[in-house]
Amino acid sequence: MKRILVSTSGGDCPGLNAVIRGIVKRAHQESEEWEVLGSIQAYNGILWEPTEVKLLDEKTVAGIHYQGGTIIETTNKGGPFAWPIFNKKTGKWEYVDRSEEMIRKLQYMGVDAVISIGGDGSQKLSQKLFEQGLDIVGVPKTIDNDLSATDFTFGFQTAVQIATDAIDKLVTTAASHNRTFILEVMGRHTGWIALHAAIAGGADVCLIPEIPYDVTKVVQKLKSRYKKGRGSAIIVVAEGAKPIDGSEFAAVSNEVGYENVRLGGVAYKVSDQIKAAGFDSGDIRETILGHLQRGGVPIAYDRVLATQFGVKAFELVKNKEFGHMVAYRHPDIVSVPFTEAIGKMNFVDPNSDIMDTARGTGICFGD
Ligand code: F6P
Repeated sequence: MKRILVSTSGGDCPGLNAVIRGIVKRAHQESEEWEVLGSIQAYNGILWEPTEVKLLDEKTVAGIHYQGGTIIETTNKGGPFAWPIFNKKTGKWEYVDRSEEMIRKLQYMGVDAVISIGGDGSQKLSQKLFEQGLDIVGVPKTIDNDLSATDFTFGFQTAVQIATDAIDKLVTTAASHNRTFILEVMGRHTGWIALHAAIAGGADVCLIPEIPYDVTKVVQKLKSRYKKGRGSAIIVVAEGAKPIDGSEFAAVSNEVGYENVRLGGVAYKVSDQIKAAGFDSGDIRETILGHLQRGGVPIAYDRVLATQFGVKAFELVKNKEFGHMVAYRHPDIVSVPFTEAIGKMNFVDPNSDIMDTARGTGICFGD
């Protein structure tokens, strides 16, 4: 028997289940010898006592390719290198390294290889585990599309579709009320979702982290959309967008083990800034799309990409290409070493063709 352990970690993402199904289908096609287990809630299932794993067989994965979320759950807190333990004496949380213990437990469980489906943070962790001797491969995951090793990540196109659907809805209410709508979308430190949705939805303004915005330029554009108080406009703002003289609108999270900067709410900032800069042509309303972008069914494109990643991940395990992550390099699905894949963000290039397209249709980036 050859045993693979699958883990999904970080924020959920449409297509995770399609990856899991791809791994299991391909493993079973190979031979009856392969068994696939899912660790519940990333590596927590291994680190918990008692252990919580789920057998992933053909029956378990039947029909899950179109389901959102992940059937083995996920978490973006803690992990084997920073396991939170509450110290009753000091009244504080402390973080302990349980990675060695986890690797030992995996050996005891007869796990031959691990497939880690996760974003940049998770794959950094994969590299550390690999250096400690774990046979592990990675599958990149994020709706933000911010990993430079792969042309696209699954989940991104679904998020763009959801954001575009939201713009389509806001356009009609904006026009009816002569209003300006500010739609805030996710993306962390990159503006991919905002940029693609702004083009697809025909937005007037798009504010992204890669191009700090000058609010007077935004107001200029908005004013051009109104005549004698009649008109409407749509602004798409990425959650990580910042003004030329300011920084990201971040809130510190008080969740135990959560290390990320928690973004959200920049739409209200932009709204205030626009009013303060003299925009008085029409009412402004703000919509924060939030986690709606991550929930629900993946669109067909993401199901295909996720399935390709799942099948390829099994093949990496079979060929013992450990320390590698699958990636999409059009038209191929390839493998790249973790060391090449991690820590390199995929930012929107302000001088790229897609930016020319956006500017060519009159979208203002506040610059
Ligand atoms: O990285 C994916 C993402 O959805 C970001 O776009 C967003 O900032 C973050 O995760 C939100 O994460 P959480 O699940 O902690 O709210």
